[in-house]
Amino acid sequence: MVCSGCSSSSATARLLPMSHQHVVLRRFLLGPLYWRPPFCSFPRTFKTLAVHSSASPSPVLAALIAPEASAKVIDGKSVAKQIRDEINTEVSRMKDTIGVVPGLAVILVGDRKDSATYVRNKKKSCELAGINSYEVRLPEDSTEQELLKFISDFNDDPSVHGILVQLPLPSHMNEQNILNAVCIEKDVDGFHPLNIGRLAMRGREPTFVPCTPKGCIELLHRYGISIKGKRAVVIGRSNIVGMPAALLLQREDATVSIVHSRTKNPEEFTRQADIIISAVGQPNMVRGSWIKPGAVIIDVGINPVEDPKSPRGYRLVGDVCYEEASKVASAITPVPGGVGPMTIAMLLSNTLISAKRMHNFQ
Ligand code: GUN
Repeated sequence: MVCSGCSSSSATARLLPMSHQHVVLRRFLLGPLYWRPPFCSFPRTFKTLAVHSSASPSPVLAALIAPEASAKVIDGKSVAKQIRDEINTEVSRMKDTIGVVPGLAVILVGDRKDSATYVRNKKKSCELAGINSYEVRLPEDSTEQELLKFISDFNDDPSVHGILVQLPLPSHMNEQNILNAVCIEKDVDGFHPLNIGRLAMRGREPTFVPCTPKGCIELLHRYGISIKGKRAVVIGRSNIVGMPAALLLQREDATVSIVHSRTKNPEEFTRQADIIISAVGQPNMVRGSWIKPGAVIIDVGINPVEDPKSPRGYRLVGDVCYEEASKVASAITPVPGGVGPMTIAMLLSNTLISAKRMHNFQ
């Protein structure tokens, strides 16, 4: 847990070294994305200053009473709900027309609390969307062979249209071997190297796109924010978010830079960006001064920081200092309630796509 507000984080803060960053990012990505603590506040639209005269104010006073720029809030929670409703309708139509219900298998190895919470949320969301879920929980000391056998069985099971192995895996397991074993027709996480490879290539189509980056792009689309020809900066280069987010932005014709733990002066890059996607797991790292006026900010970070006023003793904040950024940006995702809810919505969407594709259902 980090004790940090925007003010305690230096404007020249450096990104964490990758080893640390990876742990932090995973911890936060796996964290309780759907909790909505009471601190979550949305920006005011206007700064209210008392004005004592009805006459036109002087230019100086006019500057003082000018509305304080306030970014549009990109409400991932409500977009995710809308998407879940759309999926629900499609699932019912599919069931009524061809008698097939999409099915998602989720495998959890070990007893990490954050992973268990995440898997529970996925299961609950499946139920709400009318998707069948199959859950396997394996003990921490399971062998790779045992896990591979479950994956193989799900690969062969026609009632399963999507397979997700919750990450991170225990350290004795080889993540690469496991992800390679999921057949790409059921790789709803989009983590199979063939899918990532296709995502990186022009003229190739992955069977699935990773859920969190897909959710980021979906938010931009649904808010009518154009990507083509824009300068985009992705902060963080993880396999789960940063790298595929950069590939997706590039596929949408943005000019993309990735800044990471070895980037000198990352703020020099972010200040040029029309769109910033931050997925680094550093609370409040991106300050208002890092942002070009009018930029769009997608904050993937979900970072617990100490907060004695909260009943839990902490609250969740993003990678971006919301208070400062919302005065500079034109649109911004809040944390929580921004990208987090979109990840599961995209997982359900991928599962539905898979089931439709397998049964040739339009
Ligand atoms: N761990 C953190 N995010 C993810 C995700 O999107 N999929 C899986 N399988 N594991 C994760």
